[in-house]
Amino acid sequence: MRKRIPKILVTGGAGFIGSAFVRLLVKNGISPVVVDKLTYAGDLKRLEEVMGKFKFYKTDICSKKGIEAVFAKEKPAVAVHFAAESHVDRSIHDATPFVETNIKGTQVLLDASRKHNIKKFILISTDEVYGEIANGRFNENSPIKPNSPYAASKAAADLLVQAYIRTNNFPAIIIRPSNNYGPWQYPEKLIPLAILRILGDGKVPVYGKGLNVREWLYVDDCVRGIMMIMRKGKIGETYNLGSACESKNIDTIKLLLKTLGVGHDRFEFVKDRLGHDIRYSLNSRKIAKGLDWKPGVKLSQGLKLTVAWSLKHKTWLKSKLGDINKLYNK
Ligand SMILES: NC(=O)c1ccc[n+]([C@@H]2O[C@H](COP(=O)([O-])OP(=O)(O)OC[C@H]3O[C@@H](n4cnc5c(N)ncnc54)[C@H](O)[C@@H]3O)[C@@H](O)[C@H]2O)c1
Repeated sequence: MRKRIPKILVTGGAGFIGSAFVRLLVKNGISPVVVDKLTYAGDLKRLEEVMGKFKFYKTDICSKKGIEAVFAKEKPAVAVHFAAESHVDRSIHDATPFVETNIKGTQVLLDASRKHNIKKFILISTDEVYGEIANGRFNENSPIKPNSPYAASKAAADLLVQAYIRTNNFPAIIIRPSNNYGPWQYPEKLIPLAILRILGDGKVPVYGKGLNVREWLYVDDCVRGIMMIMRKGKIGETYNLGSACESKNIDTIKLLLKTLGVGHDRFEFVKDRLGHDIRYSLNSRKIAKGLDWKPGVKLSQGLKLTVAWSLKHKTWLKSKLGDINKLYNK
């Protein structure tokens, strides 16, 4: 007899990482249910190649009524929760949607999941909940000490899930990935913003002196890790998901400019981001040892793949230019 595949609900499935996860599920013969509000960051074009292979609800996760209707109809066994306001700079301008979506929205999902006896709830948290670290690496037991309003709202969601696990024996797993990059990333984030600026003959803005260190994880590696944890991770546990590939922003940009075939004169230092975390770094031994996952794409290779994709999808990237110029007052 064929094993029945549990129904999987993916929130934020029209976003950058969520859509990569949906595409991976479909490749594995799974047709998920996708819930997404389609904010400025959501775009169903990311799912064009798997159209018809998933069910879509344009629903706000903060809407108790809307989420209840989806759960009552679909009765998912597993929920993978990506939906979030995700850009630090926007959270500095206005934290309101971050508190709403990242905290309240998560609570609405947790309550619907409890009511409908979900078997597994996966929260996509972030390495930013730990705050910055000058030396060493954060492990899953390191204290949570977020710095930006974005990170604080994600930390609140992370703690809320921990509270439901402890109080209600709620069957959840928390995943904390490091900085992702790759195809379909909204061009407000460092790497696609840099590509967009170069495509527009502009200069790449680099905060401060470009000394902030990020741990770069290619999006396909990230969603493969999430899939692995979804299948084999232990309920109640938290997993860091990092590449161990650290790079200063200035070095990342220089490597990207080289990949794009343009000179080093194509970036400019700009006023630093307020409260800018100097370094994020994860110890990801728990997933590497326990679940046998390791990243496959090095930064140089990932940038080549991202640039090749971007050149093929110039029109999509450029369609976001008006919004990006508004964000950065150009
Ligand atoms: N991008 C990264 O480097 C990174 C790293 C670690 C963790 N994360 C986390 O991974 C998740 C996905 O990140 P991303 O980069 O794909 O984000 P994204 O901004 O590209 O996508 C977010 C998606 O959520 C949807 N959404 C926003 N508010 C919603 C609401 N109220 N109801 C329903 N849908 C809503 C948007 O329409 C969009 O499709 C987030 O939870 C983020 O915090 C991201």
